[in-house]
Amino acid sequence: MKDEMDTGLQAGGRAGGVAEVMNPASLGFIGCGNMAQAMLSAFLKKGLVDPHLTIASAPSERNLTKVRALGVRTTHDNNEVARTSDLVFLCVKPHLLSPVLADLLPLENNHSPLFVSVVTGVSLSDLEEMLSSVVDNPRVVRCMPNTPSAVGQGCCLYARGTQTTASDAEATSSLLSAVGMSAEIPEYQIDAACGLAGSGPAYIYMAIEALADGGVKMGLPRPLAQTLAAQTVKGAATMVLETGKHPWPVEGRGVFPRWHDHCCRPCPGEECL
Ligand SMILES: NC(=O)c1ccc[n+]([C@@H]2O[C@H](COP(=O)([O-])OP(=O)(O)OC[C@H]3O[C@@H](n4cnc5c(N)ncnc54)[C@H](OP(=O)(O)O)[C@@H]3O)[C@@H](O)[C@H]2O)c1
Repeated sequence: MKDEMDTGLQAGGRAGGVAEVMNPASLGFIGCGNMAQAMLSAFLKKGLVDPHLTIASAPSERNLTKVRALGVRTTHDNNEVARTSDLVFLCVKPHLLSPVLADLLPLENNHSPLFVSVVTGVSLSDLEEMLSSVVDNPRVVRCMPNTPSAVGQGCCLYARGTQTTASDAEATSSLLSAVGMSAEIPEYQIDAACGLAGSGPAYIYMAIEALADGGVKMGLPRPLAQTLAAQTVKGAATMVLETGKHPWPVEGRGVFPRWHDHCCRPCPGEECL
């Protein structure tokens, strides 16, 4: 990684916290569906970005109308997003990323935004390669957010490309932490994080539905059953997060064998107890 502090993200020439880093900069989204809107909601709720300095592109009006209602500028031209943004989120479906990037024109006047991809399964080296026709030495970040980001309870793990700077790291960390928890991890862990936290909410929604169905079957009104189910999951998750303990011992208070960080199953051995 480069270590200079002079990137476009500090367009206002200021350094410091996230507001100082991000507010002078403009933010762009190429693709404006579920994930883009979840992240945008988090950034706006936390006041990290100015909607008037934010632009989103998509082929249809389907999603653009929703972000326009938030004050965000919209366009059908992906090049306009790349041309006018200091940080560009790439939020299209994986099979569309290559053609979308191939259609981007080379940027002029030394404009070189930081590209942050949320696209599942596309490596940093592939991103750098695909974007090399758009800018020299593209600065890229690959991140893995999830949909609870929309309510500030998401997870966003990210890895940085070879050309990113210390300032990029600061801006990425400050911005992505708005979604809930965020952390930089080695790129080889991103796919696993995606499988767990990207897909995880769908399983938890099913668990909540099943708990609520059980409550309804036993006579609870549906709204109460759903609230109870969701609060129960939230409470159990908070117990795990706040105690830092494995879920089983949280309930069993040590009845169950402990797990080590590196273990994939409970360790009954002496050293684990
Ligand atoms: N959803 C998740 O939980 C999740 C989690 C982690 C990562 N991701 C990743 O996030 C990415 C987006 O997923 P999503 O769930 O947000 O998908 P989505 O809701 O289908 O949104 C895709 C967006 O891309 C737009 N689009 C399609 N063709 C385009 C083009 N040629 N140029 C510009 N935009 C184009 C769509 O336009 P229209 O609005 O006109 O349809 C839509 O706004 C995926 O790569 C996925 O792997 C998703």
